[in-house]
Amino acid sequence: MRDDKRGKNGEYLLTLAIETSCDETSAAVLKNGREVLSNVISTQIEQHKKFGGVVPEVASRKHVENVDMVIQDALDEAGVNLSQIDHIGVTYGPGLVGALLVGVSTVKAMAYALNIPLVGVNHIEGHIYANFIEDPDLEPPFLCLIVSGGHSHLAYVRDYGEYEIMGKTRDDAVGEAFDKVARAMGLGYPGGPIIDQLAKQGDANAIHFPRVYLENDSYDFSFSGLKSAVLNYLNSQSQKGEEIKIEDVAASFQQAVMEVLIHKTLEGARQKNVNKIVLAGGVAANSALREGIKKKAEALGLQVRYPSLQLCTDNAAMIGCAAYYNYLKGNTADLYLNAVPNLKLGEIYERYK
Ligand code: KG4
Ligand code: ZN
Repeated sequence: MRDDKRGKNGEYLLTLAIETSCDETSAAVLKNGREVLSNVISTQIEQHKKFGGVVPEVASRKHVENVDMVIQDALDEAGVNLSQIDHIGVTYGPGLVGALLVGVSTVKAMAYALNIPLVGVNHIEGHIYANFIEDPDLEPPFLCLIVSGGHSHLAYVRDYGEYEIMGKTRDDAVGEAFDKVARAMGLGYPGGPIIDQLAKQGDANAIHFPRVYLENDSYDFSFSGLKSAVLNYLNSQSQKGEEIKIEDVAASFQQAVMEVLIHKTLEGARQKNVNKIVLAGGVAANSALREGIKKKAEALGLQVRYPSLQLCTDNAAMIGCAAYYNYLKGNTADLYLNAVPNLKLGEIYERYK
């Protein structure tokens, strides 16, 4: 780790970060990695809603239109100008290639023009780091359940940037299953928050959907079977002309997901002998997951942490926090940095040789 954490101003380091991996254009300014001075998020949800999901070409075009303005807003809100920024971080994967390229190209041009270090950030790592912003005292090691629209991982975080992936999804990501089930029920996009709300008025025991635990010792997940079970239920009910109570479907589906997630996470914590469980990613905003895991973990004497709602879904502050710690470790990039759509958690950018 770098010892000298004094930047251009002689006192602290200022990070500028940019996130464009999916359907949010975001820029943030952070002081010493964990203090957020600004976190501007321009969401494209309205543009994608009518298609029932993110359209990659539309996403890229919107990022191009918005990125400069979002960066300027983030600087203005933080009350700093570009010449004060010490280093600049950007999500370079995983994500939609055209969307990622907007952020990566922007940041390369800025790092070159300003002559400051450039840090390539893994988006999944960013989600984990949202927790370091939320809780200034949080330190590794801990067990982290990362659940978003594109990823579902159970990872043991040994130290900053050191991950042991214990399990991941074999098919759909958790958020993806929520979105697909919501679409089948005609509920709109993104489906996760809508199902979360509807489930509050439904009976989680009304319909029995399968709990997929896979092999006994496996920490992997599988949600496509559950998704198909919900779709089959909806089809057979409508063929029989029977009533579909969407609140009950939402609650029963959500319960089937959460029981498996919570069980595997608690088992993982026991195996790794950690006393801290951390949630990350868009689905970490789910109220049943937050409440359910807290209740069960606290009964076992384990602490649970999760980010506030805004930091759960995509934002640049979490990318800035990850950029700061990568910078301290010397994991900076060069101008050959490229978008890597299928970047894995724990992969480090190799500088051009
Ligand atoms: O982390 P994120 O913003 O983007 C990715 O990196 O994928 O996650 C978005 C996902 C979507 O699938 C959305 O439906 C889901 O997170 N989500 C939720 C909730 N809020 C967002 N899923 C369940 N319950 C929620 N409250
Ligand atoms: Zn994300």
